[in-house]
Amino acid sequence: MMKHGTAIELGCGRQEQSTPCPQGPSRNAAKAALLLLATSLVLGACGSGPGVSLSRSEERTAIRLSAGDREHLLRGMRTYLASVQGIIEALPQNKHAVVAESAKKGGLEMLTGVPASVAVSLPPGFLMLSMDTHQKFDALARSASAGDAKAQLLTQLGDILANCSACHAQYQLAPN
Ligand code: HEC
Repeated sequence: MMKHGTAIELGCGRQEQSTPCPQGPSRNAAKAALLLLATSLVLGACGSGPGVSLSRSEERTAIRLSAGDREHLLRGMRTYLASVQGIIEALPQNKHAVVAESAKKGGLEMLTGVPASVAVSLPPGFLMLSMDTHQKFDALARSASAGDAKAQLLTQLGDILANCSACHAQYQLAPN
């Protein structure tokens, strides 16, 4: 596998660590309960089937992917981030066309060429969040093209970022 960029290894939160990571103040009982519920829903939906496991020191569901699929997923993540950056940079200048163009990059077009092997390795809850996120990017692109107000576009971007956070709180990739 070709690696570009610099890999940084941190022990924090990985399976070999038994000490829990220090977490921010946002961690509270209600959130933990929700996470547990969501995790058990996911596990309930697909048993402890292939590709899904829970690590001991992490409450996040670990997803096991082939090296190629993993790289594909992470590249998609970096596309998401670049898309958000493009939107945020264009918004203050009222460049709606650029907002639309940037948002489209995070839309369903990202799924073009995604190998079926990726879809079958992912838990249904993960797939649903993923599809919803792509659809929200496309909706934002449509709103920007229609000339909607900045406040509206920001609200939609906030909803997208809530999806990013929700998925990151619930899932992690299993170390290869
Ligand atoms: C459906 C689930 C899901 C959604 C939605 C999601 N992510 Fe991710 N993302 C992941 C997973 C899983 C990882 C790997 C994290 C890990 O293993 O700790 C990841 C990793 C990343 C990374 C690291 C990429 C790298 O090269 O290491 C970035 C950046 C990122 N996500 C950005 C985003 C942004 C921005 C959004 C929203 C626009 C988003 N993600 C939405 C699941 C998701």
